Amino acid sequence: ADGDRVPALVIGSGYGGAVAALRLTQAGIPTQIVEMGRSWDTPGSDGKIFCGMLNPDKRSMRLADKTDQPVSNFMGFGINKSIDRYVGVLDSERFSGIKVYQGRGVGGGSLVNGGMAVTPKRNYFEEILPSVDSNEMYNKYFPRANTGLGVNNIDQAWFESTEWYKFARTGRKTAQRSGFTTAFVPNVYDFEYMKKEAAGQVTKSGLGGEVIYGNNAGKKSLDKTYLAQAAATGKLTITTLHRVTKVAPATGSGYSVTMEQIDEQGNVVATKVVTADRVFFAAGSVGTSKLLVSMKAQGHLPNLSSQVGEGWGNNGNIMVGRANHMWDATGSKQATIPTMGIDNWADPAAPIFAEIAPLPAGLETYVSLYLAITKNPERARFQFNSGTGKVDLTWAQSQNQKGIDMAKKVFDKINQKEGTIYRTDLFGVYKTWGDDFTYHPLGGVLLNKATDNFGRLPEYPGLYVVDGSLVPGNVGVNPFVTITALAERNMDKIISSDIQ
Ligand code: FDA
Repeated sequence: ADGDRVPALVIGSGYGGAVAALRLTQAGIPTQIVEMGRSWDTPGSDGKIFCGMLNPDKRSMRLADKTDQPVSNFMGFGINKSIDRYVGVLDSERFSGIKVYQGRGVGGGSLVNGGMAVTPKRNYFEEILPSVDSNEMYNKYFPRANTGLGVNNIDQAWFESTEWYKFARTGRKTAQRSGFTTAFVPNVYDFEYMKKEAAGQVTKSGLGGEVIYGNNAGKKSLDKTYLAQAAATGKLTITTLHRVTKVAPATGSGYSVTMEQIDEQGNVVATKVVTADRVFFAAGSVGTSKLLVSMKAQGHLPNLSSQVGEGWGNNGNIMVGRANHMWDATGSKQATIPTMGIDNWADPAAPIFAEIAPLPAGLETYVSLYLAITKNPERARFQFNSGTGKVDLTWAQSQNQKGIDMAKKVFDKINQKEGTIYRTDLFGVYKTWGDDFTYHPLGGVLLNKATDNFGRLPEYPGLYVVDGSLVPGNVGVNPFVTITALAERNMDKIISSDIQ
């Protein structure tokens, strides 16, 4: 409530925020999470918490009049649908050169993501974060993160036989015929539950067209793992539908945190100020960077490092679809949960790791869809715009060309070998590459650059960064395992050195 004083306040409830909250509460510290999204625990009038992808309603997207799917078109038609403005679960935040998809609600990105739980390649992790002890990461914190997140693997015999993963087998077969390596990818979706879905024993979620607008079952999102454990300590409070707008030193000690309470249509209904001894920024790469850049520019945290706002990247995300021959069908039934990737990372001419993505349209499309993580070296910065009072991101769409070139080498080769072509109807009309959005925003407040080697903002004792903004723009794989493990490492240090 307005005027309260709390020992620890966490801004945001995604991966970084959930780890911080668990480790703080386990150390006995009463902790308050402030989350701008809603708590996704109450069913709507249809008895479901989340809506599906083929029948989206107001719950799908945050404060939008229309859905804004990454695959926006099909055979010449726009496939987005009108919806009522509401604090929906998926946000597409638009900057001048890119739109950034993010999850909104208790659990952050874990509510909307594909659950792919990938530990990065060790040599690349060492390259991007040389100040981090990689022995400790790979022996202790990556295993801890995988356990805490509930990561599991698909039963390979089932994968080979089920109609639901025909799309992945076709993607694998066509990649292998061109000499590319493929690999199974672990996930936080419970594959035992999925088998029961296939057998008709439980309600379908991953086999029922649910993922980017939330899964009603099967997925171990953070509200079921880290946040549930933190709540069980009795020391956690979560305040939803509150958006932090300002953090500044309080008179005396600690920090005053200003937040706007919003209603379910996004209108501001109250402004509150809470004082916190310690503040953990976990608003995600975009949220944390925007807050810190504007606090520095507006003179509320003027001494922050000039590195704040630097080093942002899109994890090289590029999407593309291929048209298979009629004899290489991808199936009218497709699981929404990816389990297979093309791993070409070691090839310096075309370093990509491409997820073989589903296109669960409910009909046979013959499309192989891929979300490629390319080793695109381009970076951008967040900048305060004094004219608008908002924070801009300098990323230009042309910065994706290097990523497209890498992906094109791989998929051109597959097309040549197969005698197939790209689909040009999925990301617009006559547009091959999905290069105007990212699922994987990373960086903006880099570890050991804008913060110290453990996420502390050294100019302001008691302020910490714990989310994806610490990761320098690209990790070569889907990022949440890395974000979780780094948060585990940094919280270990912070709790033992600063708090106990
Ligand atoms: P995250 O974005 O999770 O959490 C930030 C939280 O802070 C949000 O809940 C937000 O509402 C809140 N917030 C922001 N600003 C605030 C403010 N001012 N006040 C209060 N609250 C605020 N990754 C992966 O590894 N495997 C995968 O399969 C996928 N798939 C995927 C699909 C889709 C559709 C998306 C959008 C993303 C993915 N990802 C993914 C990416 C992954 O979800 C992402 O990297 C993490 O969620 C980032 O974790 P963070 O803790 O950094 O922030």
